[in-house]
Amino acid sequence: MGYNKADYIRIREEFSKKYIRARDAAEARRREIHIEIPEIFEIDRVLSGTGMEIMGIITAGGGNTSERVAQLEARNNALIEKRGRILEENGYPPDHTDIHYECDKCGDTGYVDTVMCDCMKRALARAGYESSGLGHLIGKQTFDNFDYKYYPESSRPVVERGVGMLRSFAEGFNKDTYCNFIITGTTGLGKTHVTTAVAQTVIDKGFDVLYVSAVSMLGDFEQRRFGNSASISNVDDISRYYEADLLIIDDLGTEVVNKFTQSYFYEVINARINARKSTIINTNLTATEIETTYYDRISSRIFGEYQPIRFKGVDIRKQKTQ
Ligand SMILES: Nc1ncnc2c1ncn2[C@@H]1O[C@H](COP(=O)(O)OP(=O)(O)O)[C@@H](O)[C@H]1O
Ligand SMILES: [Mg+2]
Ligand SMILES: [Zn+2]
Repeated sequence: MGYNKADYIRIREEFSKKYIRARDAAEARRREIHIEIPEIFEIDRVLSGTGMEIMGIITAGGGNTSERVAQLEARNNALIEKRGRILEENGYPPDHTDIHYECDKCGDTGYVDTVMCDCMKRALARAGYESSGLGHLIGKQTFDNFDYKYYPESSRPVVERGVGMLRSFAEGFNKDTYCNFIITGTTGLGKTHVTTAVAQTVIDKGFDVLYVSAVSMLGDFEQRRFGNSASISNVDDISRYYEADLLIIDDLGTEVVNKFTQSYFYEVINARINARKSTIINTNLTATEIETTYYDRISSRIFGEYQPIRFKGVDIRKQKTQ
């Protein structure tokens, strides 16, 4: 899986802290109960001696070993039941001194055998939303609330086909997926909406997605050029532009275009093509404007390697407020 490495390390640490916290808390409750209810202290002393008793039975030998072990077991079950009762009589739940993990399935280890538990997948997805740069939009702009009624009949089939392609790309995303898209169209036609839906779907499948505006992406590269480690887009390290399983660059064409920004942009898209890592670009620019704005080597890479998707219609934000 392509989880973001920093996220993964952090989440693993959180899980091991959670696990230790749950055990420590149970141990603390147990100690308190032992002080408060000596009868339980006595029961626990007997229960924890069971191993030694079994050893004793086995070493002593004699024909009735299994019978005596079974008796021990019955005694223990009765003690455990009694222990729960005493706790309840004293106003505690019967499992008061048990370890209470947040997740019963994995005991807060994050794994069931060697398979990652759903709770850890969820934690990673949540972290992925944050580190994707999408935070506030996640959950609001989805495929399910993407409505085709806003597009004029003449362009609706094209939009449907384009969005259908993006949806199957996202839903089928796996470690071998490699596909690039460039989505063009004027403001308010759902480019950001649909790519947010793609990002969320791919993050939920456990991959590392980086969603940035062209302005902040190139800003990050500029900061590096000036030796400044501070980042504009919350990306700690520009290597994520190369390593993310999916990079989505929103609003290409709104950045300052100069020889530096062009070379950063080329570096990123070219390296990703060579590494067969998927990239999606959103832009208000037309194909002709892309050609005249960027170096040939950039536009030829885009036209050669990116599947174009064209949105046409009337600003949906305006349609909604009417
Ligand atoms: N097909 C759609 N169905 C429902 N809402 C949409 C659709 N397309 C866009 N919107 C909404 O309209 C607004 C503008 O869309 P946005 O994706 O930001 O446009 P763009 O990025 O193309 O400028 C957003 O609030 C978005 O959720
Ligand atoms: Mg947009
Ligand atoms: Zn779990």
